[in-house]
Amino acid sequence: MENLGNVLIRSDLNVPVNNGVVLDNFRIVQALTSLKKIRGISKNIVYSSHLGRPKGIEPKYSLKPIKNEMESLLQEEIIFIEDCLSKNIKNLLNTNKNKIFLLENLRFHDGEMKNDNFFAKKLVEPFDSYILDAFGASHRAHASIVGISNHIKCYQGELMQKEIYELNTLISNPTPPYSVILGGAKISDKLSLVKNLLPKVDNLLLGGGMCFTFLKAKGLNIGKSIFEENFIKVAEELMNSEYGKKIILPDDIGVTDSIESMKRINKSINDFDEDDIGVDIGPKTIKKFYKVLTNSKTIFWNGPMGIFEIKNYSMGTQEVTDMIANSGAYTIVGGGDSVNAINTFSNLNSYNHVSTGGGASIELLEGKKLPGVNIYESFII
Ligand code: 3PG
Repeated sequence: MENLGNVLIRSDLNVPVNNGVVLDNFRIVQALTSLKKIRGISKNIVYSSHLGRPKGIEPKYSLKPIKNEMESLLQEEIIFIEDCLSKNIKNLLNTNKNKIFLLENLRFHDGEMKNDNFFAKKLVEPFDSYILDAFGASHRAHASIVGISNHIKCYQGELMQKEIYELNTLISNPTPPYSVILGGAKISDKLSLVKNLLPKVDNLLLGGGMCFTFLKAKGLNIGKSIFEENFIKVAEELMNSEYGKKIILPDDIGVTDSIESMKRINKSINDFDEDDIGVDIGPKTIKKFYKVLTNSKTIFWNGPMGIFEIKNYSMGTQEVTDMIANSGAYTIVGGGDSVNAINTFSNLNSYNHVSTGGGASIELLEGKKLPGVNIYESFII
C-alpha cells in the first residue's frame, strides 16, 4: 500500500456527552481500532466527525470532550483544531510528524450537511488522502461522506468494511434458525426493517413499546400503553400475511399505573385494565423468548424490551441481553439503546458483532443503498 501522507479520517464520534464528559465511548474505541495500521503508512492522522445536530457553532456540541476521551484511551496527546477549515492546518501538518489531530465539529459549518462542494474542497485541501470510516453516518449524503470524493483520493476504512460485511451476512447468508428480536418505542421507525427481514427470518420476536401496536391490532385492551394508531392496519396486515406465523408477541407484560411510581406488576396480555401502562415484557414472555433464542443459530437484536433505565422495568431487557450473549448463536446487535443495555447488564465482547450504526445499520438491513457504503476502494494493508 502506498504511503497515505497526511490523512484525514472521517469517523462517527457522535457519542452522548454531558457537561463535557463522554458518557459512552463505544464509538470512539471502535474508531481507534485501525489506528496502528494507518500510522505505519502515514505522516500525520487527523480525525473528523460530527456531534449532534448543531445550528451553527454551539459550544455544547464541541468535540473537545471527545479529544479528552481519545487522549485517555490512547495515552498520548491529541492536537485539537478549533475549526475544521482553519488556515493553519497545512502549517501544522508540515511542522509535525506521526501526530494525531482532531478537528472541531464538521457540522459547525452548514456546508457539511448541505454537501456543499466548496466546503468539501476546502475541508480536504490540506490532506493527501482520505479514509471514510464513519459507518454510523454513512446513511447521510453529507460533504464529508460523499462530496469530498471530487477532491481527494478516498478509501473505505476498516470499521466500515467490517460493519458492512457483518450486517450483509444477516441479509444474504444467515445460518438458520435465524431470529430477530426488536424492541424500542416505535414500530414506525422499524417498519421497513420488519418488512425486509420477515421473508428471511425464522422468528421475529417483538417487545418494547412497539409490541403494543401489534397487540392492539389483535383487538386486545392495552390500557394506556404507547401505540401508533396509523400503524395498526399495517401491523394487522403483517400478522395476517404469509409470514404472520413468524411474528412472536409477548404473552405477559410488566405494567404500572404511573411510570414515575416505579411500581410494577406482571399481567397477562388478556387482563389489562384501562389505566395500565406496559413498561417491560413479563416472565412468561421471557421464557418463551428464551426457548426461541437458545434454539437459534443466528440472532440480530435491536431495541430494548422496556424502560430498562428504571430498575423495576429492566428485567426483560436484562434477561434478553444475557440470553443472546449465552445463546451460542452468531449474534449481531445494533442501535445505541441496545449498546447501552449491554454496557449496563453485560459485556460488549460477549457478542459477535456490535454495530456502531443506529440509523445506518437499520437502513442497511432495510435493503437500502446507503450514500457512503461501498463507494470507495477498501482500505486494506
Ligand atoms: C447517529 O448517531 O445515528 C449518527 O451519528 C448520525 O447522526 P445524525 O442522525 O444526526 O445524522
